[in-house]
Amino acid sequence: MLERLNASSGGSDTALDRYDWDELVQEDRVHRLIYTDPAIFEAEMTHIFGAVWVYLGHESQIPNKDDFITVRLGLRPLILLRDSNGKLRALFNRCTHRGTTLCRKEKGSARFFQCPYHGWSFLNTGKLRAVPWPDGYACDFKDAKFNVAQVPRVESYRGFIFATLNPDAPALLEYLGPITKPIDEWLDRQPGGKIAVCEANRLRYKGNWKLAYDNSGDGYHVVFSHRSLLEMENRQADVANKGMSYYKGSPDTAPMYMAYMGHGHHFKDKRPAIEKRAGGLWAVEGPHPGMEHYAQSLRQRFGTKAEEILDLASSEPVNINVFPNFSLLGNHIQVFEPVSVDETNVTWYGTAVVDEEGVLGGAVDEINALRMRTQEQFPNFGEVDDLANFEEIQRGLACLEDDWVYMHRGLGIPGRVRTDENGIIVAPATDEAFMREYIKEWKRLMKTSPNLSVQREP
Ligand code: FES
Ligand SMILES: [Fe+2]
Repeated sequence: MLERLNASSGGSDTALDRYDWDELVQEDRVHRLIYTDPAIFEAEMTHIFGAVWVYLGHESQIPNKDDFITVRLGLRPLILLRDSNGKLRALFNRCTHRGTTLCRKEKGSARFFQCPYHGWSFLNTGKLRAVPWPDGYACDFKDAKFNVAQVPRVESYRGFIFATLNPDAPALLEYLGPITKPIDEWLDRQPGGKIAVCEANRLRYKGNWKLAYDNSGDGYHVVFSHRSLLEMENRQADVANKGMSYYKGSPDTAPMYMAYMGHGHHFKDKRPAIEKRAGGLWAVEGPHPGMEHYAQSLRQRFGTKAEEILDLASSEPVNINVFPNFSLLGNHIQVFEPVSVDETNVTWYGTAVVDEEGVLGGAVDEINALRMRTQEQFPNFGEVDDLANFEEIQRGLACLEDDWVYMHRGLGIPGRVRTDENGIIVAPATDEAFMREYIKEWKRLMKTSPNLSVQREP
């Protein structure tokens, strides 16, 4: 059963009447209000986080029937689960009686959820299972309106689960489009083309969610904002460029580029800097305490195969950004989660190698132990620099009389930004071309009127 919810009657469109989006988002600049206005934020929860495919979680987080995690779709709390038949579902975490959340745990396994308030219980299909003392009700509890609302479209791309409330959104594969190529490459370097999601670094900053997406492919800030991390890496990188030290010097002439791939998605590729040989990736891995010890013991145990093993522990030098809330960077899955107009959660999930075919000769635990070390670095020593920037931008944007945020680096220079034969826009690493392109897509979405729907079991 599909319920149509007309966005324009949902009360969230006051911003739409108030603003001229072409005024707020121009070719070279955007108005501060897109980061500071609560009405725009509220409209985004429908026009962006309701209407496009939003990343919710990874299949390895709910591998078995009845497994669940609690997540969010914009501000909507959800229970992402595999029901007792194995079907993926994203239930609104909201009791149909008086609206309280049904599940307060981060993860677990449950065939049904009992509401903590008055004890109504629901199967993990969303269907109402039982109501305490039903003889106090005159209604027919078989009416589908009492079943939990759920997101009508939930799909997975190679383990990454996305969902949308928009029946008119393109198929997930079409939405992802060419960004599937770097996602495939990121997965295919892992044994069996798979990863498992591990624990996460959970961070929150006091700033708008788009500040994180603006930064997700920003190669311009690195040498300035991450100066201390680069200095540390440069001190220890006398032989090769390691970690982010390939940003030292002139990043636009270094072997890396940015590609805008449509629907707001973009890709920063630093892999051309890597030597194509076993051990090439490990050779540029940033310094970590104890890494030499691990490398030495793996080389002793595994001989020539050790270089491949070390590559699996190394971070892939890519930023693959899927609008609006998902990034693959290094070995991490990063998820942006809006909290309010000026508050955002940023979660960095580590990923582990899985070796179902046994091709790693028993090295899987060592790889994952070392991988944990390599995955500790950026969220602890780099991301804090970024979050400080986001908070300080939000503070700066409180200057009401100064309207504009510029994103025009690379604009108007002949030959600098080019569109290839597949329509992919390619630019130097420090350009803001991806920002201009994704914000155009944002503007297009803010102008449309999506007809969002929820579904209930019949
Ligand atoms: S609010 Fe859930 S049973 Fe009353
Ligand atoms: Fe950064």
